[in-house]
Amino acid sequence: MKKIDIVKIFLAKQYGNSPQNKYGEAFAPANIALCKYWGKRDTELNLPVTSSLSISLGEKGVRTRIALSDDNHDQIKLNGNIVAPDTEFARRMIDFLNLFRNKANLYFTVDTKSNIPIEAGLASSAAGFAALIQALDKLFGWQLDKKQLSILARLGSGSACRSLWQGFVKWHAGTAEDGMDSFAESLPSAWPDLCMGILTISTTPKHISSREAMQRTVATSRYYKLWPDQVENDLRNLITAIKTHNFTLLGETAEANAIAMHALALTSNPAILYSIPKTIAMIEKIWRRRASGLNIYFTQDAGPNLILLFLQQDVDKIKHEFPELEVVTL
Ligand code: PMV
Repeated sequence: MKKIDIVKIFLAKQYGNSPQNKYGEAFAPANIALCKYWGKRDTELNLPVTSSLSISLGEKGVRTRIALSDDNHDQIKLNGNIVAPDTEFARRMIDFLNLFRNKANLYFTVDTKSNIPIEAGLASSAAGFAALIQALDKLFGWQLDKKQLSILARLGSGSACRSLWQGFVKWHAGTAEDGMDSFAESLPSAWPDLCMGILTISTTPKHISSREAMQRTVATSRYYKLWPDQVENDLRNLITAIKTHNFTLLGETAEANAIAMHALALTSNPAILYSIPKTIAMIEKIWRRRASGLNIYFTQDAGPNLILLFLQQDVDKIKHEFPELEVVTL
């Protein structure tokens, strides 16, 4: 099954219709997985081996406005600057737009504004595809539901399926070959005291995409077979922690899950290492502060940056210890 088949199933008779509106615009938050998605069972449809669970980053994310273009090519702008079509950023977006070009000579202008670093392992592509699919839905007036939008966002980037909601979100791995049961859902529990902060260590684009890295991990790490068990356990603990507001359980589980994901990457062949020396120094600092009583944990995506987890009551102490931390309002 190809991506285009899924699009045609959802749009059915609407496929081929002209846009109902002059433009479509949407915002989607970045999301950070507390239990990571690492490994696909279908690389075409971005179907994961395991379920995953994330929290969205409030106002940190991507706003996208899309309209039809009069030119005979797409024009993509990122933070006000035109992006060259041969860049990875433009190529991935154009590939995704190709799925929705229902007539010959249909081109788009896409204006994307991101307040998170692009391609540095801070989930910018998740927010990007989630914003783009919702903007497309508004432009064309499809009125798809959130489950369908989540599935379509997944075709752009797996973790994008979780960026359609704020708060805690679970992506169900599903088992169907066509991925119709692989979508995300918002978990109803709110946790107002929970805080997150971005510790930007480097904004240099990552040397290996998460797409390629997870493929290599699945194909070459002899430890990958342990991952589904770890995820099952971690998801159970995270759901308990969220329901009972047990911060220690949440922090311990999220941190251990991130460490396991990075350990898997490191045991791939060739080995994949996303941390840089400053990442390690910061992890050691977090561990030292925690040993002396500060309630703080970290998680790390496919890049050198860290996301800190802590409680509202400790914000001042945490800011004092990590002055460079950008606290996110969830
Ligand atoms: O959705 P992708 O292909 O960008 O992969 C995301 C991978 C991680 O961010 C490392 C984990 C996750 O669940 O978001």
